[in-house]
Amino acid sequence: MPAIGNLTLDAPFFQAGLAGYSDAAMRLVARRHGCPYAVTEAMLDHFLINGGKGLRAAQLDDADHPIAGQLMGSHPTEIAQAARILADLGYDVIDVNLACPVKKIRKRSRGGHLLQAPDQAIDILKAVRHAVPDPIPCTVKLRRGTDDSPQATKNFFTIFDAVIDLGYAAATVHGRTVDQKYLGPSRWPFLRDLTNRYRDTPDFSIFGSGDIWTAADIFKMIQHTGVQAVSVARGCIGNPWLFAQARAIMRGDHHAATQPPSITQQRAVLLEHFELSAALHGQRSASMMMRKFGIKFSRHHPRPDDTAKAFIAVKSLDDWLAVLDQYYTADEPASPCSV
Ligand SMILES: Cc1cc2nc3c(=O)[nH]c(=O)nc-3n(C[C@H](O)[C@H](O)[C@H](O)COP(=O)(O)O)c2cc1C
Repeated sequence: MPAIGNLTLDAPFFQAGLAGYSDAAMRLVARRHGCPYAVTEAMLDHFLINGGKGLRAAQLDDADHPIAGQLMGSHPTEIAQAARILADLGYDVIDVNLACPVKKIRKRSRGGHLLQAPDQAIDILKAVRHAVPDPIPCTVKLRRGTDDSPQATKNFFTIFDAVIDLGYAAATVHGRTVDQKYLGPSRWPFLRDLTNRYRDTPDFSIFGSGDIWTAADIFKMIQHTGVQAVSVARGCIGNPWLFAQARAIMRGDHHAATQPPSITQQRAVLLEHFELSAALHGQRSASMMMRKFGIKFSRHHPRPDDTAKAFIAVKSLDDWLAVLDQYYTADEPASPCSV
């Protein structure tokens, strides 16, 4: 089973960082469906250092472990300071984001754009590793390069070698370039070559990301690329059942692995997710936030367009409950598109 330093996962998959989605509510729902580990969305170092809302959002629920706190920043001293804050808050792993494709702000490279500045990226990785107490593993999330040029590939490997030399415990590699953003396929053969190249590296795990839409895709990626675990991203938004299906594949239960969620199961999750979100953000913000989840959840409903339209109009818990009462009471067969 995959290891991240002294942490061992009991299944070869986890929930990815997903900005705007993977808050504590989404993570807790995922865990209740068998997700063994989760990464936060990328947190800007400034938001943690300045305190206030950013720091409040980073507080952890006791049930939300093991968890990686993911950091994004441009300056070694600042990101190191934020890393110490996350360590003090009880994060089990500190993850550095070298993957986010959002353009740099005021000429400050961060996220995936640091892949074109290997010296700066390595200074950041070094500062974070030094700032975090030894027993807490550090990991990194990176794309396979900024673009398809030979220089971008060279930069990737310069950084990747430094990740290993600095004692990072694992790297999650998204098989798209920064230029690609989310378009086109994730290049799984790149992941295959990577795991071959670093096969004999002790105490270091390679995880894969990109194009995981079903539970079966997790095991396909492992088989095709040799990664030790798979990061599930867009495929689990509005689909926590993917994790239960992946557990079913692990125990050879073909029936459960291909079973779409019943309307009763969907209703229970829709209610649970809203309640967790409201506890976290307050009812008003949760209502706005849950609309986009509702659209994703509606794909499992036999009448996805009607339910999506109803979720979009939600302004309160009462509205949410009204949608559930209108569409999620009769146990009609769920849409097969969910598997
Ligand atoms: C809306 C959205 C937000 C994302 N936010 C983050 C993030 O905060 N941190 C991160 O490491 N990756 C983030 N990602 C990238 C995903 O974790 C993942 O690497 C990518 O979506 C590829 O996987 P997929 O094709 O299976 O979705 C984000 C992706 C999307 C679509």
